[in-house]
Amino acid sequence: MKISKKMSFSQLFKQMLPEEICAYGNVFTMVGKDFYVITSGKGDHYNSMIGSGGGFGLLFKKPSAWCTLRTDRYTLELIQKEQTYTLSYFPNEYKGQMLFLGSKTGRDSEKMKETRLIAIQTPSGNMSFKEAGLIIECKLTQITTPGRNDFYSQEAKDYIRDAYKAPNDYRKYVFGEITHVWVKK
Ligand SMILES: Cc1cc2nc3c(=O)[nH]c(=O)nc-3n(C[C@H](O)[C@H](O)[C@H](O)COP(=O)(O)O)c2cc1C
Repeated sequence: MKISKKMSFSQLFKQMLPEEICAYGNVFTMVGKDFYVITSGKGDHYNSMIGSGGGFGLLFKKPSAWCTLRTDRYTLELIQKEQTYTLSYFPNEYKGQMLFLGSKTGRDSEKMKETRLIAIQTPSGNMSFKEAGLIIECKLTQITTPGRNDFYSQEAKDYIRDAYKAPNDYRKYVFGEITHVWVKK
C-alpha cells in the first residue's frame, strides 16, 4: 500500500484480536529479529525507541505484552506518566528508521521531528506510525525491577551482572494489557 500523509487511521488499519497476532508473524521473529518500536506520549509530545526481546502472554487473565527497558529510557518515563503505550512492528524496509529511534535519546534531542516515519494517532489517542504493519496498544499494568538475586541460570546471572554495572543500567520489566491490535489493511 502506498502511504500518503493524508490517509486516516481507519483507511490504513483494521482491528484484529490479540489472539490473531500470530497471523501477522512468528512472535519470536517479531521480537528477536525484526524488533519493534515502543512509543508513549500523546498529541505533539511523544517519544519512541526501538526495543527487542519481550513477548506476549496472559497476565491477570488478560492478553498482555512485556518488554524490558533500561531505567534511563525517556520512553519509559513517558510510559510511567501516561500509563499507555504502543508497540509497533514494521516491514523490513523501515529497519533504518527503527534503528534511528534507537540511536539517541529523545529526552534532549529532536529525534521525533527528524524521523521520516509519519506519526499517527490511534482512535484511543495513542501514538504510532503510518508505516507500521501491526500496532499493539497497551495499558500499563506492572513494572518490575528484579534484584540481583532474582536470577538463577548462569546465562541470566551473567547478563544481569553486566546489566547492573551502573545505576542507570537497571532493567525494568514492563507489562501491559493489550487493549487494541491494529493490522495494516
Ligand atoms: C536493535 C536495538 C534494540 C534495542 N532494544 C532495547 C530494549 O529492548 N530495551 C532498552 O531499554 N533499550 C533498547 N535499545 C536501546 C534504545 O532503543 C535506545 O537507547 C534509545 O535511544 C532510547 O531512546 P529514549 O531515551 O528516547 O527512550 C535497543 C537498541 C537497538 C539498536
